[in-house]
Amino acid sequence: MWKLRLALVLLLLGCFSLLAQEVLSPGLVPAPVSCKISANPNDRMSIGLLQLGVDSAALKDPAARRFSRIASQIEEWLKENRRQPDPALRQGPFGMLVLSLKPQDALALGPEGYRLKIDRTGGSLTATTPAGLFYGFQTLKQLTQDHKCPFVEITDVPRFAWRGMHLDVSRHFYDKAFVKRYIDLLAAHKLNVFHWHLVDGPGWRIEIKKYPKLTEIGAWRIDKRNQPWDWRATELCFDGKTDKAYGGYYTQDDIREIVQYAKERFVTIIPEIEMPGHSYAALVAYPELSCHPDTIRKDGLRGMDTFCAGNEKTVEFLKNVLDEVAALFPDAPYIHVGGDEVSPIAWSNCPKCQAKMQELGLKKAEDLQPYFMGRIAQHLAAKKRKMIGWDEIAAGKLPDDAAVMVWRDTAVVRQVIGQGHPVVLAPGSHLYFDHAQRNPKTEPPNAGGLVTLEKVYSFEPVLKDLPEAQQKLILGVEACLWTEHVQTPKYAEYMLLPRLGALAEVAWSPTEKRDWANFQKRLPGYLDWLKVQGYRPCGIKKNNLL
Ligand code: ACM
Ligand code: ZN
Repeated sequence: MWKLRLALVLLLLGCFSLLAQEVLSPGLVPAPVSCKISANPNDRMSIGLLQLGVDSAALKDPAARRFSRIASQIEEWLKENRRQPDPALRQGPFGMLVLSLKPQDALALGPEGYRLKIDRTGGSLTATTPAGLFYGFQTLKQLTQDHKCPFVEITDVPRFAWRGMHLDVSRHFYDKAFVKRYIDLLAAHKLNVFHWHLVDGPGWRIEIKKYPKLTEIGAWRIDKRNQPWDWRATELCFDGKTDKAYGGYYTQDDIREIVQYAKERFVTIIPEIEMPGHSYAALVAYPELSCHPDTIRKDGLRGMDTFCAGNEKTVEFLKNVLDEVAALFPDAPYIHVGGDEVSPIAWSNCPKCQAKMQELGLKKAEDLQPYFMGRIAQHLAAKKRKMIGWDEIAAGKLPDDAAVMVWRDTAVVRQVIGQGHPVVLAPGSHLYFDHAQRNPKTEPPNAGGLVTLEKVYSFEPVLKDLPEAQQKLILGVEACLWTEHVQTPKYAEYMLLPRLGALAEVAWSPTEKRDWANFQKRLPGYLDWLKVQGYRPCGIKKNNLL
């Protein structure tokens, strides 16, 4: 008899676990913290049947305007999904999707977390801020296939505050429409930082009113896109745009429009103004800012693409540029100032730089870089902005609140964190999406290395043996899309996807949920979701992974 009872209990438990098991829905990327999903295929909501209900308290919240905007977006989406109810499904006819802000949940959900519940009577989406509601909405959209959403109960909170993706628009220019599409993709993956690499040697892409030649001259080069990328062969159009020129730039109105677009999607744009190296385009436009004005046009590509560090006019110029940049990006807490791969050749035989070294008692030309970055950081601080730069900037003393983006050896992380500076991890070994995904030799032009989907997925940003206080200094992660070899939006998407999904999971999901085998199971559904929205992932066939 007891055996029968045990069997009954086991059967009941089995039924319960069918209804409430902790599973990750087919295409849900990044994986949430906790996700209970009904395994019964009829337990699905015809999503267009839901009426939106809003918690009236939320409309009194200081964030009411943003709350209302999200409520309208969700309402619009529900309308788009209106269909005849499917009689096979087991939902009631009068479902409400209730949206509410619960600041009292801050401990559990933080500023970006959310709870989402869909059952036969309707659903609820709660968060402590509009950002959390936005992320819950992204999850709801991803779960909904063919207008139906499974019955779910999800609680979700991001792991890192900085979940970034970068785009280099200097090596190749990407227009406003593509930048918006890129931001849409980031937001749908719950990424919240767009690092916009706006200037570099091969092209200056942001209008600066005080220095119009930056874009009149610096944004245009002789079009050599029919040849393989070769930095040494870059030739700026010294007299400005010609019929044969390649390039482009964003006007200040374009920038404001994109910043607003990103803000509506809870993406903060971090602009990058490279200095003191990688500055050929700026120096061709304003040769007087280089150490050797007479030669910049001819020799600027040979380690001489560096602003003169001994010239007060250079510092003045960059301060003025940064003033306009800061005004265009009012919500960017950090301004990225580059600082990578600076050659000291130009400084070594420049009278102004030599005089500055003497004045400061510096022994090597390289030592001018920390001095130079320090001047810039002081200016940013006066404008209430913090400085972030590539990890080379950590070679010198940094202002206390400066952050470092680590792209080389992650061993630098220990050094930087040891000095008390926040870091963002963007290691070339795992998160540079200009490398091939499957085979550098057989894929279209790429940077020559191999960064597979699995490699991206395997990246763990927090060094295990770091003391807890130091772990807090890891702001998050970011992947980079350098575009030397990436000439078109279509190809940029190919390079980005599906690696962006792996990045999103590294950035958002808790370590316990990071499971490559499980990610692979979700991959076909995730790829379908991308394709339904018109994105083109790298040619991975369904169920035929890398
Ligand atoms: C870099 O890849 N030079 C930051
Ligand atoms: Zn100089």
